[in-house]
Amino acid sequence: MDYYFILSLLFTISFTTITYFLLRTATATATTRRKIRLPPGNVGLPFIGETLQLISDYKTENPEPFIDSRVKKYGTIFTTHVFGERTIFSADPETNRFILQNEGRLFESSYPGSISNLVGKHSLLFMRGNLHKRMHSLTMSFANSTIIKDHLLVDIDRLVRLNLDSWTGRVLLMEEAKKITFELTLKQLLSIDPCDWTENLRKTYMRVIEGFFCIPNPMLSPTYRRAIKARKQVAEALSLLVRERRNERKRGMTKNDMLAALFDGYGNDNGRVCLSDDEIVDFLVSLLVAGYDTTSTTMTLAVKFITDTPTALTQLKEEHDEIRAKKGTSVSLEWQDFKSMPFTQCVINETLRVSNIISGVFRRTMTDVDIKGYKIPKGSKVFTSLRAVHLDQDNFKDARVFDPCRWQKSFDPTNFMPFGGGPRRCPGYELARVALSVFLHYLVTRYSWEPAEEDKLVFFPTTRTQKRYPILVQRRSM
Ligand SMILES: *[C@@H]1O[C@H](CO)[C@@H](O)[C@H](O)[C@H]1NC(C)=O
Ligand SMILES: *[C@@H]1O[C@H](CO)[C@@H](O)[C@H](O)[C@H]1NC(C)=O
Repeated sequence: MDYYFILSLLFTISFTTITYFLLRTATATATTRRKIRLPPGNVGLPFIGETLQLISDYKTENPEPFIDSRVKKYGTIFTTHVFGERTIFSADPETNRFILQNEGRLFESSYPGSISNLVGKHSLLFMRGNLHKRMHSLTMSFANSTIIKDHLLVDIDRLVRLNLDSWTGRVLLMEEAKKITFELTLKQLLSIDPCDWTENLRKTYMRVIEGFFCIPNPMLSPTYRRAIKARKQVAEALSLLVRERRNERKRGMTKNDMLAALFDGYGNDNGRVCLSDDEIVDFLVSLLVAGYDTTSTTMTLAVKFITDTPTALTQLKEEHDEIRAKKGTSVSLEWQDFKSMPFTQCVINETLRVSNIISGVFRRTMTDVDIKGYKIPKGSKVFTSLRAVHLDQDNFKDARVFDPCRWQKSFDPTNFMPFGGGPRRCPGYELARVALSVFLHYLVTRYSWEPAEEDKLVFFPTTRTQKRYPILVQRRSM
C-alpha cells in the first residue's frame, strides 16, 4: 500500500512539476512572441538563410537588386538571414539616422572576425566607448578643414600633379587613382614621400584589400590566406618604421603627422590614451585601408560618370578653366580655389549618391529596441543600407540617373549620408572631398580623354568598374 502511495505521490509531483514547467515555458514564449515583433521578411533556409540569393542577385548591373525586391515586398525595414545570422535590413532614412546616432547607447558596431584579422583589432572599427571617442577625434584633428587648409592641401596638390604629369597614352585610371590616394595617405600619416619603398608596400597592400572580398576562410580561399600573409608583411614594414621614428624622437627629432600625435597620446592627463607600438601599427594599417580604396574608387567612378554625361563634363571644365584663368601663372591650388568649385561639389555628391563604395554598415542591438512599431530583440544584427536610401525614388527623383544638377536645388540631409553618421561618421570625409576636387581639377585642365574600351560598373563584391577603367589621355594645350 505504502509503496503504491509513495509511487503515485512521486508520479503526481513529477507530473505537476513537468506540467508546471511546460506551461510556464509556453506562456513565456507567448509573452516574448507578443513583445517581439520583428519586421516582415523571410529567413530562408536553415543556416545559410538567403545568402545565396544575395550573392546571385548582385551579379546583375542593378546596384541593389536584393534590397529592391524585398523593399517592394515588405517595406523599407525587413528581416532576412545572411552570412550566418538573422539580420534586420533598413533602407529607411529616419531609421538609419536613428541607428547611427544611437551608437554606444542602443547599437554598437559589429563586424565579423574575418575582417578584424585583416584590419587589425586596434582599428576604429573595433574600438568602443571612450577609447573610440578619443581615437576618432584624434583622427578628425588630422583631417579637419583647418589642417587641410593649413597643411595637407599643399601635399595633395603636389602629389596629384606629380602623378598626373607622368601620364601618356593609355592609362588604367583605377590603378593611377589608387597610387595617388596611397601616396597621399602615407604622406599624411607618416610624412613619407613616394619612393620604391612606398610602391612595394602598396603592392603588398593590394593583396590585403583583396582579402575583404573573398570567402574569409583560410582553408577554402587562397586569396584570404594570401591576404593574411600580406597583412603580416605590411605590419612588419610599418613596425620597423615606427621603431625608427621612436628612436628619432628620443633624440629630439619631431615631425608633424599622425604618427607623432599617436606617440604623444591623446586626451587630458587622467584620460590619456597611450598606445604601444603594436597598437600604433594596427591603427595605421586600418587608416591606410580606410583612406586608400574608397577614395580612389570614387575618383575613378566620378570620371566614368562625367565621361558618360557630356553636359556635366562641359560644365565641370568651364568651372576649372575659369579658376585657372584667374590664377595666371601661379600653379598650385589654394584653399579659396577649392572653395570656388560649387559644381565640382555637385559632381562629387552625385557620384557618392549613386555609387557609395560603402553600401552600408553593420550594427548590433545592445538592448531590445523599438523601431517604427517593431521590437528588435537585444543582440540582433542590423544592416543600415546607406546606398538603398540614396537610390530610392521616394528620396530622389529619377534616383538611378546620374544628374549633378539636382544638387543645385535643396535636399533633405537625412536622405544623404554617404559617410555614415553619428559618432562613427567617417573622419576622412572632408579630406576625401578635397582630394577628389584637386584630382578633378588637374584632370580636366590638363587632359582630354576618351574611354579606351567599353567598361562596366559592377556592385559586388565591391563597387568598381570591371576593367579598372582604361582611358586614352591627351594633353590639352594651355
Ligand atoms: C582641427 O583640429 C585642430 C587640432 O589639430 C584644432 O586646433 C582645430 O580647431 C580644428 N578645426 C576645426 C574646424 O575643427
Ligand atoms: C554635398 O553633401 C554634403 C553632405 O555630405 C552637404 O553638406 C553639401 O551641402 C552637399 N553639397 C552640395 C553642393 O549639394
